[in-house]
Amino acid sequence: MCGIVGYTGCKSAKDILIEGLRRLEYRGYDSAGIALQNEGALTCVRRVGKVAGLAQAVEHLDNPGTCGIGHTRWATHGVPSERNAHPHCSCDGNIALVHNGIIENYAELREELIGRGHVFKSETDTEVIAHLVEEAYKGDLLAAVRTACARLVGTYGLAVVCAQEPGHIVVTRRDSPIVLAHGDEGSFVASDIIAVIEASRDVIVLGDEQYAVMTPEGIDCFDAEGAPIDPEIMHVDWDVDVAEKGGYPDFMLKEIHEQPRVVRNTLAGRMTDKGLHIDEFNLSLEELNLIDRVYVIACGTSYHAGLIAKQLIEGWARIPTEVEVASEFRYRNPIITPSTLVVAVSQSGETADTLAAIRDARIKGARVFGITNVVGSPVARESDGVIYTKANKEIAVASTKSFLGQVVSLTLLAMLLAQSKGKLTVGQIRILFRELADTAEQIERILQDTTSIDQAAMACKDATSALFIGRGVGSAICYEGALKLKEISYLHAEAYPAGEMKHGPIALLQKGFPVIAVATQSPVYDKVISNIQESKTRGAMVIAIATEGDEEIAHIADYVIYIPKVRDCFSPITATVPLQLFARSIAIARGCNVDQPRNLAKSVTVE
Ligand code: M6R
Repeated sequence: MCGIVGYTGCKSAKDILIEGLRRLEYRGYDSAGIALQNEGALTCVRRVGKVAGLAQAVEHLDNPGTCGIGHTRWATHGVPSERNAHPHCSCDGNIALVHNGIIENYAELREELIGRGHVFKSETDTEVIAHLVEEAYKGDLLAAVRTACARLVGTYGLAVVCAQEPGHIVVTRRDSPIVLAHGDEGSFVASDIIAVIEASRDVIVLGDEQYAVMTPEGIDCFDAEGAPIDPEIMHVDWDVDVAEKGGYPDFMLKEIHEQPRVVRNTLAGRMTDKGLHIDEFNLSLEELNLIDRVYVIACGTSYHAGLIAKQLIEGWARIPTEVEVASEFRYRNPIITPSTLVVAVSQSGETADTLAAIRDARIKGARVFGITNVVGSPVARESDGVIYTKANKEIAVASTKSFLGQVVSLTLLAMLLAQSKGKLTVGQIRILFRELADTAEQIERILQDTTSIDQAAMACKDATSALFIGRGVGSAICYEGALKLKEISYLHAEAYPAGEMKHGPIALLQKGFPVIAVATQSPVYDKVISNIQESKTRGAMVIAIATEGDEEIAHIADYVIYIPKVRDCFSPITATVPLQLFARSIAIARGCNVDQPRNLAKSVTVE
């Protein structure tokens, strides 16, 4: 969940590290620090809070050198404080390192190291590594890091510098992402491509328990035994401006506006003369036909995309489908056979629970298919096949465009399963595909005029709680609408299938209580209208997401947000957009930082 960077080359390391940390700040933002190596010594600067504070602290640093490492933290062990911020150093101050992950056996290592005279300055799990490297260092940093890592239980992405080895950075990882790149200005490392992309489009994806030694001249990679290896190189075709706001006030709004493009890119090249084609889904027709059960496993927003997929896969392909939160799936004993398809959905591709669930499912014999936004991510690497959501890098912590990419990808998967099972003809799929593609333009129309969304948001901005209700696929996106609202505005929100209201939640309603109802045209439209009436009768303030041309609803709801008419199964794609904008508008009115909500991090790499 933390971000690590490193640079060695011909430029000022300080500036490159700060820029890298700024790009990685979505991974954690409770403290940040850098260690610079210069003239046989290390200078460490750390600050509580955002990278901007650290940038200020190092602005006038004299002679900062051309080699260093940096870190932006999301606290696990030890409160956010300067003392616990990375880099962490050895007793003699000659070794400094940054770490992403969790060292599970840190308590026993700490006790052992204290017993041998080491003095600890933080409460972190990370600091034990600095002391282990210090003990093992005999003039060869790579050898010392390898010796230290052999003692570690847990996960790590590590970058280490040593005062005695000018211009050298040693890097390694276990279950934590690390990418490296070499360009004209030197060598770069980071926990995400976004911080190295300007150096080169060809990045090294370091494998588990592999090591890299970076120098200004190049990057050498080694296996766990220390033997030289040719690393895996991945070409990245992201826009370089992905880390810039591009004139928008925040990344969230920029990313919401990128959604039409995500729909188009995710669908590009999928429909052929012979029908729907997903190259990456490398199962034969016979294997596809054997699938008799689907599990969608995911967390947070990705789980909500799974709720929509269930309705589509069961509706079109008639395959029983269960959607499970990955952290639950991995600790029970689900019924999995070789004919079970497990679909793992993860924007980051590195969510710890989702990865653990994938591994568990594979051991039990399931075929695992990943849906992720990050090329070469652990979810992509550990799945039998993968669809990339083509959302480009998502920076705002609250998922928006990647959710839409997931829903579109899962819709394609549902169509593919229906096609291979003979439940939908190629002709039927062609019609559905065209309508699915049309949603890109419909989203553009929603984005053109957001007045009604902003008005509804202003009416709710001072509320303390809100309910989201809907039926069918409408109820699935209510969960996403409620999550968006609570995570960025800190306004308590819950989602319920509208029919459940009278079984409890209706007791919450009183004058002015906001009820957001997804009431688009669908076979259950009349039922949702009845539920809205029940809410109105109890004094609720109703905000309805409705289909253009529906005049009836304007007589019942207090606010109506109209969206273009689409087939019910595609309404999650369009109806989600006003819910995202509604949440953002409330959050802005409440003075919240919509890109970096408190306590959250974009990639949840711990359990
Ligand atoms: O990277 P993943 O899709 O696996 O992440 C799962 C959740 O952590 C993520 O969706 C989270 O709920 C977002 N903050 C939602 O906006």
